[in-house]
Amino acid sequence: MAHGTRSRGRIELEVIETDIAIIGAGGAGLRAAIAAAQKAPQMKIALISKVYPMRSHTVAAEGGAAGVVASGDTLDNHFEDTVAGGDWLCDQDVVEDFVAHATQELIWLENMGCPWSRQASGEVSVRKFGGMKVPRTWFAADKSGFHILHTLYETSTQFDNIVRYDEHFVVDLVEDNSAIRGVLTYDLHNGHYRLIVCKAVVLCTGGAAQAYRDTTNATIVTGDGMSIAYRHGIGLSDMEFVQYHPTGLPGCGLLITEAARGEGGILVNKDGYRYLQDYGLGPETPLGHPENKTMELGPRDRLSQAFWHEAKKGRTAKTALGDVVYLDLRHLGRAKLDERLPQICELARSYVGVEPAVAPIPVRPVVHYTMGGIRTDIDTATSHCGVFAAGECACNGLHGANRLGSNSLTETLVYGHRAGDMAVEFCRQTQAPNRSALTKAALSRADALMAQFDVADQGQSCAQIRRELGTLMEQHAGIYRHETGLSQAVREIADLKSRYKAVDLKDKSGRVFNFELMHWCELGFTLDVAECMVHAALWRKESRGSHQRIDAECTQRDDDNFLCHSFATPTPNGAPQIASQPVRITKSAPGRRVYGGEMHTNGKVQTEDYDEEHDDERQ
Ligand code: FUM
Repeated sequence: MAHGTRSRGRIELEVIETDIAIIGAGGAGLRAAIAAAQKAPQMKIALISKVYPMRSHTVAAEGGAAGVVASGDTLDNHFEDTVAGGDWLCDQDVVEDFVAHATQELIWLENMGCPWSRQASGEVSVRKFGGMKVPRTWFAADKSGFHILHTLYETSTQFDNIVRYDEHFVVDLVEDNSAIRGVLTYDLHNGHYRLIVCKAVVLCTGGAAQAYRDTTNATIVTGDGMSIAYRHGIGLSDMEFVQYHPTGLPGCGLLITEAARGEGGILVNKDGYRYLQDYGLGPETPLGHPENKTMELGPRDRLSQAFWHEAKKGRTAKTALGDVVYLDLRHLGRAKLDERLPQICELARSYVGVEPAVAPIPVRPVVHYTMGGIRTDIDTATSHCGVFAAGECACNGLHGANRLGSNSLTETLVYGHRAGDMAVEFCRQTQAPNRSALTKAALSRADALMAQFDVADQGQSCAQIRRELGTLMEQHAGIYRHETGLSQAVREIADLKSRYKAVDLKDKSGRVFNFELMHWCELGFTLDVAECMVHAALWRKESRGSHQRIDAECTQRDDDNFLCHSFATPTPNGAPQIASQPVRITKSAPGRRVYGGEMHTNGKVQTEDYDEEHDDERQ
């Protein structure tokens, strides 16, 4: 045990040595741990999570995971759908790599016990998701995330060299001589600080959707890994691309899976009209028609934008929880709903009091996914030697400007696996770190955190700052953006960041289950990430995928100037600097995204349509 005598008394620090420290025990973290444990049984792997692994946000995934398996599907189809879905901002070498490894990961998971839904023939069932030419999404009813995570978790328990640190909150990475070789955590149960000294770190901390007010994501999804990496100088890419899922429940934001539309559900406005036909998403087709490639199965960005226009036209229904449209599943029949979509039926009953077999479900777009994240190469390596990242916290260029549904669960497997392998290779060539230098640095960092308990009451609270942040992100960095609103968001976030430092923690009892302390740390992470999002959105003066600018001169995709990634790095004054990085194009020249027709609202919205107060009474 190392000790430091600090501003708030004696700080005790337990120092633990391992080879690889993996932060986050969702799909990517567990997959990384298993890959590393298998590859190097003699190495020690610390798997650190702020929650119990089965509570990681992967558990909330519903619809499934993409991988070519159906007859008639090809790797080229999967590649083309992903690249077009990403509005040609994908790094195409990564997409080629991803589609080539996707199916083997899903088969591996099956071998580990994942109960994929099957056809009567015994073959795996696949369903169609938005933007797919051919059904490609493997699923386990509509609880795919639960079953995937459970399979990974159970598999991980077979390896003695994986040591779990559940409910350990990661405060920071620790450097020795500019090399990151430690992870500072505190144990939520007893408040003990632990320094996990390691040769390699793998960040698998998930996204940052809690920067927004309305989201499908759990409250734990606060951008921790992105912010921690960024604070250590590791750049974040494509942060302006934030995906709204078109069908969240109003109020709570819970996900109503795209699979509901894949199974034949339709979206109607307040007049019962299938409005997507007005947005270049294809002609109306008979209900649940198996050939339907468009309409409700258009990509998420397009569907969310269509909702925005319907709200502008006054064709959404006004409710106490904001504007909604309706997802009608009644024609699927109770038997199919029970077999394929039991969870969303349960959610609809419990949270909005609707029985989907007899009434349509009110839905609206809510934030679901961050395409951007910690910049990595195709092999999950960041710019910092020995630090790797995989899953939603990472941005390797796979998703471009808009992720296709069901690519992300597979991504956690393909690149979680890769990160585990890479970390092992790195450890094999790396000397043991300098424990005493790391301990000193960790004690000083722990002391800085404890100083927050000494801040005098200035009337600032985490809850208030967080509420304001969520509202301003919805308002100014939502489905459509405008220079005026984004500039305001930049100023307001800078102000929130200075107020954040003045938050006095009311729970002075210490660190034992001190959730206020944890939420304060999380809020700091979220503010960093939100700041990168709005700066990058202001920088990208074009409209592409999920980033739609409505101010004049930015309403079109501009390949001449913006066929590139944004890249945010911290500057001494606190605000990010945004630079560009090239997009790697291997075989698909930028083209038009066509889903059964032209998206006539894309790039043709009149500036005067934009109203900063937007449509939402809940602000
Ligand atoms: O709608 C869904 O089931 C979400 C899937 C995904 O984001 O990949």
